[in-house]
Amino acid sequence: IPVENIRNFSIIAHVDHGKSTLADRILEITGAIKKNVENKQVLDRLQVERERGITVKAQSASIIYNYKGTDYLLNLIDTPGHVDFSNEVSRSLAACQGVVLLVDANQGVQAQTVANFYLAFTQELAVIPVLNKIDLKNADPDGVAIQLQNLFGIDKKDVLKVSAKVGTGVAEVLHAVIERVPHPPANRLLPLQAILFDSWHDRFRGVFGLFYIANGKISVGDNIRWVNAQKEYQVKSLGVLTPEELPVSELAAGQVGFVTCNMRDRKDAIMGDTVVLTENPAEALPGLMKSKPMVFAGVYPLDQSQHPLLRSAIERLTLNDSAVSVIIDSSPALGQGWRLGFLGLLHLEVFSQRLEQEYGAHAILTTPNVTYKVVIKGSKNISALGGSELHISNPATFPDPNIITEMYEPIVKATIITPDTYLGSVLSLCMERRGQQETAVNIDNSRVLLKFTFPLSEIIVDFHDRLKSVSSGFASFDYEDAGYIPSNLVKIAILLNGIEVEELSSIVHSSRAVDLGKRMCHKLVEIVPRQQFQIAVQAKVGGKIIARDNIKPYRKDVTAKLYGGDVTRRMKLLKRQAEGKKKLRMIGNIALPRETFIEILKR
Ligand code: GTP
Repeated sequence: IPVENIRNFSIIAHVDHGKSTLADRILEITGAIKKNVENKQVLDRLQVERERGITVKAQSASIIYNYKGTDYLLNLIDTPGHVDFSNEVSRSLAACQGVVLLVDANQGVQAQTVANFYLAFTQELAVIPVLNKIDLKNADPDGVAIQLQNLFGIDKKDVLKVSAKVGTGVAEVLHAVIERVPHPPANRLLPLQAILFDSWHDRFRGVFGLFYIANGKISVGDNIRWVNAQKEYQVKSLGVLTPEELPVSELAAGQVGFVTCNMRDRKDAIMGDTVVLTENPAEALPGLMKSKPMVFAGVYPLDQSQHPLLRSAIERLTLNDSAVSVIIDSSPALGQGWRLGFLGLLHLEVFSQRLEQEYGAHAILTTPNVTYKVVIKGSKNISALGGSELHISNPATFPDPNIITEMYEPIVKATIITPDTYLGSVLSLCMERRGQQETAVNIDNSRVLLKFTFPLSEIIVDFHDRLKSVSSGFASFDYEDAGYIPSNLVKIAILLNGIEVEELSSIVHSSRAVDLGKRMCHKLVEIVPRQQFQIAVQAKVGGKIIARDNIKPYRKDVTAKLYGGDVTRRMKLLKRQAEGKKKLRMIGNIALPRETFIEILKR
């Protein structure tokens, strides 16, 4: 197929606006898949994707479509819908010349619609606006078309209206793709340049790379070089996804396809890397933004005997999700474990769910936190990234406040879209979370788009849930990394009878300290098992106690109820109690069972 007859495009949409359903319909009408109920969302391959109904990993499908007597090769590149995965979205867009911007005609423009539109817009892609779900009786396509005009300057005569579920208007979407999306700017006579935008690992065939051939040609048997990875391989197989794998012997500029080359380690498949021929190498293409973990959490086995199982599960999962960062960590209470870094909270949830579903590994996940930066005395300026700027994602490593000269916390730029009836409660939630309002604009006569800056730490735990609940589910939210700002941070230490319990400390903004200290003390009083003496629970910042409480003494005698009675039963109980003690962590003379830590630390 000549380059002129190739179209590479993605569908971008807010979660649940029907992207996967539209992709399925497209595959059906092009004959790529048979029409049947089993086909529901073929591009969503992972079990968690099907269960949660969200796309996590991008997949692609190459289809042939005849339009006005000419065969076109359409490469539909799937993208994840959620905020946390916007890096995967921009990655996939690197292979595209156009996008279908899909908007639910019932819900209207949502926060991720805005974010996705700008991703496509800044990459200068052709945008085809499509309103979905017009079969619903509350659908308001004309109203939503006005929102698109107000927000993005989209002319309403360019807007298509479809029902992905019923199939209405789907063929017109393909016609618009052929007419409005330019063909790839590819030249087959130049030496090979291919850009890698996805990869996965197969137990038998090693690493698969999904790439877009920007220039030249590649054939099975060619010797290739992965420029950034600085590795050389021989091409073992090439193919396209239809979405089934279809082997081919050659891929030419403009096409999207996969390569295998006996690559064993997925770390060598660097997103955005350029693949060139070893003889006659072309220049590297500009790389892609690397995804950067923003949210960290400790992961520990429920029981240390499960440590090897959890380790191999984490290893295998990170092979398929290179955005997760892993470092080994340990805690006196929870034993050997890891500190994992995620793109955001949803990413963390998806990861832990996959850990359970795909590997049956039960793990304790601790409350997520962010990475702070501090500069300590006698050290260089923060701009001169020297060894003196500390990155702290584990509160236990927070330095003595007396030697700290500067502190910084990560912030994000957030977009919130809400019906104006909920504006008051949405604004007060944002204020509560130390949000700084940047703008507020009406996108039609009943909806407002707000731009806020938030400290990342304020939104990673439950912001999204709270936003949904204060707006009866109508407000939507999206955010992007916005660097660091100076901040006033403190470390809260928790003391039991005057002894610090390292794993319970946390780093917070100073305005949050008293509140959190009180809550921690309160919770400890509730869940720490009483002992034979009173325990003072204290929260301390620097030298100052900011909250305190007491755990009343209680004399626990497991045999107390067995007056006389059966001696062997009594021995059994005493033995069990002794065994239980082995799992205890001693804090001074206080014995804390592992379960107590799990209860406090887990999410
Ligand atoms: P992500 O993968 O998370 O981005 O979601 P998605 O955008 O792929 O949404 P999906 O295709 O899973 O559709 C979400 C829900 O909307 C499903 O319950 C679909 O059945 C429904 N849906 C999709 N298209 C239509 C439509 O045209 N009409 C109606 N009534 N429902 C639709």
